[in-house]
Amino acid sequence: MSTHYQELMASLRTKPRTWLVTGCAGFIGSNILETLLTLDQNVVGLDNFATGHQYNLDEVRQTVSAEQWARFTFHEGDIRDLDACRKATAGVDFVLHQAALGSVPRSLSDPITTNDVNVGGFLNMLVAARDAKVQAFVYAASSSTYGDHPDLPKVEDRIGRPLSPYAITKYVNELYADVFARAYDFGSIGLRYFNVFGKRQDPNGAYAAVIPKWVAAMIRGEDVVVNGDGETSRDFCFVENAVQANLLAALAQPEGVNQVYNVAYNARTSLNELFEYLARALANNGIVYDKQPVHADFRAGDVRHSQADISKARRLLGYDPLHDIVQGLEVAMPWYTQFLR
Ligand SMILES: NC(=O)c1ccc[n+]([C@@H]2O[C@H](COP(=O)([O-])OP(=O)(O)OC[C@H]3O[C@@H](n4cnc5c(N)ncnc54)[C@H](O)[C@@H]3O)[C@@H](O)[C@H]2O)c1
Repeated sequence: MSTHYQELMASLRTKPRTWLVTGCAGFIGSNILETLLTLDQNVVGLDNFATGHQYNLDEVRQTVSAEQWARFTFHEGDIRDLDACRKATAGVDFVLHQAALGSVPRSLSDPITTNDVNVGGFLNMLVAARDAKVQAFVYAASSSTYGDHPDLPKVEDRIGRPLSPYAITKYVNELYADVFARAYDFGSIGLRYFNVFGKRQDPNGAYAAVIPKWVAAMIRGEDVVVNGDGETSRDFCFVENAVQANLLAALAQPEGVNQVYNVAYNARTSLNELFEYLARALANNGIVYDKQPVHADFRAGDVRHSQADISKARRLLGYDPLHDIVQGLEVAMPWYTQFLR
């Protein structure tokens, strides 16, 4: 394990701080919540259950001790409500802002709600955090900001035109963060996540991400649908790597602040390869899937290939992702087979 991250976790244990995790009932937020409580931190959560679930919070509760759970305060509220943001932010040291409406297709079918939450809600959180004088504001940005830029691997300062309303909202977040740094001297860090996967990622609904959707289909013996020829590729990032990036960012040195960082593994996996990895990981857990995938049309708004250069996060944050896709799937598979049946 990265020495820097190990040291940071050890130092947190000796000195509990108070963290606000927005979107704590969702996939990434609930994983951050679990790690922070395991480290004996005080955590405030803010979520309106738009896409998150009470059962994700219940699962975290079952994972941590009663003492650790008692350090968690939950606010059910909407980030479009400035007052709710201010109440949740009062007295916290660090904000890890994850709440947003994800999914490119969702934003194409309802750009207005995506914009209201992802831009209006983000601005509320920035204002609330600035006024509460928090020590750090870390937010979920997105690899979708690279849009149609052809270069691989993706480097933070070379972006193209956005390909979806969702991508616009995530880029606007970065623009607001940058202006708040210059206009109000309020620093922040954006983490451009690349296809995060792991336990508690929702497999259901039209906007589910590819890994939980496919694993659920494979466990249930249903067809796996590949959009396009299967050679579309992604830099899949195990959720524990994303959690690590959040903690490191919150405690970054001044030169690391007012930056955006790629958060990924720096590998490229095609959908065809992903299908093979999933079938193998399932077989290792006693589930045999012997169907061939079914091919459908390419999906609007999707980029063809994605892979991150993560040297900036390594250099300025000490980021050291511990799990590649195969290792991440190995860790996550027992959870998938238990909960996605
Ligand atoms: N999962 C990925 O691969 C990925 C990739 C790039 C960026 N991101 C970003 O990471 C963040 C977390 O994504 P996730 O995959 O955990 O998604 P998720 O849908 O599981 O979690 C988002 C959480 O935000 C909450 N939320 C939504 N609207 C809200 C509102 N108006 N007020 C309060 N809470 C609200 C939801 O209820 C949910 O619990 C998002 O900002 C997303 O855009 C995720």
